Amino acid sequence: MISYAGITERRLIGIDNDASQLVALRSRMVEIAGADDERWELISIDPLYSPLPAGPYAMVIMYKILHFFTLNECKEVISKVNQHLVKGSLISICVHSSKHPTNDPTNPDNDAYFKHFFTQEDVDSLFPANKFERLYRADIERNYEKADRQVAALWAEKVITDMKITSHREKANWRHHATMQQSTAEIINVYRKL
Ligand SMILES: C[S@@+](CC[C@H](N)C(=O)[O-])C[C@H]1O[C@@H](n2cnc3c(N)ncnc32)[C@H](O)[C@@H]1O
Repeated sequence: MISYAGITERRLIGIDNDASQLVALRSRMVEIAGADDERWELISIDPLYSPLPAGPYAMVIMYKILHFFTLNECKEVISKVNQHLVKGSLISICVHSSKHPTNDPTNPDNDAYFKHFFTQEDVDSLFPANKFERLYRADIERNYEKADRQVAALWAEKVITDMKITSHREKANWRHHATMQQSTAEIINVYRKL
């Protein structure tokens, strides 16, 4: 699917607001595709607030970012992205599912950090069947691999920097939480614009 962008010569866009995570994402893409491709545009933006690059897009990759938005904000993001899609464009997303180990609906602060834990129906509501065809669906519960622990550790450092945390105890708390989590639950979907 990543190679599809090369065939159509439309843009392949990957979105995340942290450049260092995009480097990690790119190396996963290289692993899958077998080689790097200078046409892959992995852009460091917040898709809700930043303008998006001009289309048309062959493919959009939003991996593990949509759970940092409410479902309504996700609708806004997808509607913005949709303006740059044409018939046949693909969107690949990965989100935390409602089976995620940190999802506890009885906790009043459940949505304080991750803003939404998705069911498949939630994701489908972002991609209505009259506009998108779902090509692929995976509902995965898995133990963390080394790469996940590295991403979690990087993420803890980013939070510490972004939130300008100076207290040693608070820093240690974030690092501890980042290394505590041993598993994840994700929904991965690919949709094609009709
Ligand atoms: C687990 S990492 C995933 C990194 C990368 N997308 C990947 O799949 O390898 C979660 C990412 O969500 C990003 N993120 C959090 N809030 C965001 C926002 N409002 N807009 C864009 N990215 C966001 C973080 O910067 C972080 O890089």
